[in-house]
Amino acid sequence: MKHFLKETDFKSSELPGLFALAREFKAQRGHHATPLAGQTWAMIFSKSSTRTRVSFEVGIHELGGNPLFLNKNDIQLGRGESIADTARVLSRYVHGLIVRTYDHAEVQQLADLGTIPVINALTDLLHPCQIFADLFTLSERWSKGGDLVGSLRGRKIAFVGDRGCNVANSWILGANLLGMKISLAGPPGFDAAPEFDALLTREGFAGGYQFTTDPYEAVRDADVVYTDVWVSMGKEEETAERIRVMSPFAVTPKLFAAAKPDAVFMHCLPAHAGQEVTQEVLDDPRSIIFDQAENRLHMQKAIMASLAATKAQK
Ligand code: CP
Ligand code: NVA
Repeated sequence: MKHFLKETDFKSSELPGLFALAREFKAQRGHHATPLAGQTWAMIFSKSSTRTRVSFEVGIHELGGNPLFLNKNDIQLGRGESIADTARVLSRYVHGLIVRTYDHAEVQQLADLGTIPVINALTDLLHPCQIFADLFTLSERWSKGGDLVGSLRGRKIAFVGDRGCNVANSWILGANLLGMKISLAGPPGFDAAPEFDALLTREGFAGGYQFTTDPYEAVRDADVVYTDVWVSMGKEEETAERIRVMSPFAVTPKLFAAAKPDAVFMHCLPAHAGQEVTQEVLDDPRSIIFDQAENRLHMQKAIMASLAATKAQK
């Protein structure tokens, strides 16, 4: 059975089919197959969400299934019931599990102990659904109707700001998996967690990114300029310090202009205009932030359909 906890849970050879399925679901919205018919997929969320929650609930419904949203505090997990027992119990009721939490080890444990597919809807370590939707968004633009996955190869993304956050980590994995180049710029002292370096090494991607403290160096020749909030969920106590040291890494019109002339601006959202990015860049015609948000729906439907199919084969 297949899970989607990190980008590399899909092999390179599986990506053309996955991206094509997302394109098909997008083109045929409302008229396509319903591979989750008769199924219920539960969503356990320990953190806030707009895009992820709504796109998964709508996506499960459009695939013929029933979404069951469970706030962690409304179930016994929030009162100390173990992950192990939660995984075993839910496996008896539902057909898939979508989890947003803090510690990445929790999603791994749910996957290891349950008997249903588990999807990582964001942990402190990774946000793979976001990055696959982002990659699909870029491939739609660059492939011009042709080879989706191939159109990404050799392109450069610059990630500016909190270079150790979940979205940055997932972009490093995604870029390496798809043959893209990635440069990250941020203040020193905000490195990725040591477990991320260990993961990169295990995946054979050790050293698969460049890091600089100069944002202009990172965006040079970049096809994509990407940023995320400076204060991720769970880091609120560090807010003042993060804003102070990350301010030189704000994506301003001047920084964006230092990338390729046809570069696009991306942000996973929610954005804090005036902090990591100016309103002017968010509103720029080359900002594709709402295409990214929309494609969460189509790509996640493709991911769920693919995981449901592997369970059926088991
Ligand atoms: N980008 C993203 O995951 O947004 P939400 O936190 O609103 O789900
Ligand atoms: N890095 C952000 C992403 C939100 C979608 C966070 O974890 O809060």
